[in-house]
Amino acid sequence: MIEILPIFTHSPLRNFSYIVYSNRTGEAYVIDPFDAKSILTYTKQFGVKIKGILNTHEHGDHTQGNLELKEETKAIIYGHTNAKDKIPGLDQILKEGDIVFSAEEESLVVWDTPGHTFSHLSFVRKNPNTILGIFSGDTLFNAGVGNCFRGGDPNALYDTIQSRFETLPDTCLLYPGHDYWDNNLKFSCHIDPENEFRNSYKTSLKPFQVSEIGAEKKLNPFFRRNTDSVKDRLTELKESFSDERSVFLTLRRLRDQW
Ligand SMILES: [Fe+2]
Repeated sequence: MIEILPIFTHSPLRNFSYIVYSNRTGEAYVIDPFDAKSILTYTKQFGVKIKGILNTHEHGDHTQGNLELKEETKAIIYGHTNAKDKIPGLDQILKEGDIVFSAEEESLVVWDTPGHTFSHLSFVRKNPNTILGIFSGDTLFNAGVGNCFRGGDPNALYDTIQSRFETLPDTCLLYPGHDYWDNNLKFSCHIDPENEFRNSYKTSLKPFQVSEIGAEKKLNPFFRRNTDSVKDRLTELKESFSDERSVFLTLRRLRDQW
């Protein structure tokens, strides 16, 4: 079975790196290494060996542990083809559908998920029956989506969210690149005031809660773009919109300025 160990860094960026490993073979992959030293401490503690480093995208806060980890472990560094000259130490290109890691019945499969940048991969954990989880980098967060300031485009992000993330099963667990629960829930209360599910979810929220896609569909305003609560609020704020895409783009712009 594949085990997942989230590693949170207490910096203003609130980064998550993840160690994904087989508890049978001890083979491990690190997703988006931030603090190499703490990752090495955990891999020693758990007795696992890092074979590869998987970067969701090229931004420094997702790749800054690459070289130190590679030096220490000789791991292979993987990333998107568009990030060839941007990811430190990149060895191998990954593309849509590639399987990076298999353990028993489970595997980690690559999705090409542009929007936050055009070199953005997500990693999907699946077994033969279903998708168990997704490592979404800066594409989808708890109660929010990534910004598109540094090399991205909100239209592409809309397409990715709508055509990929919204097809995930409700039970799929979300492993994002940052813990942005707090700010995103505040924005959600501002932009989606009539959301009882969000209110009760918020009351029972635990620190670093891992959400399911089913819960995100009910609390994430970017998923709830077609609800009266969100649309009435946009009208109240004198925002004009027509279709679902334009609501999404308006939400993204308001979140940027918020
Ligand atoms: Fe990023």
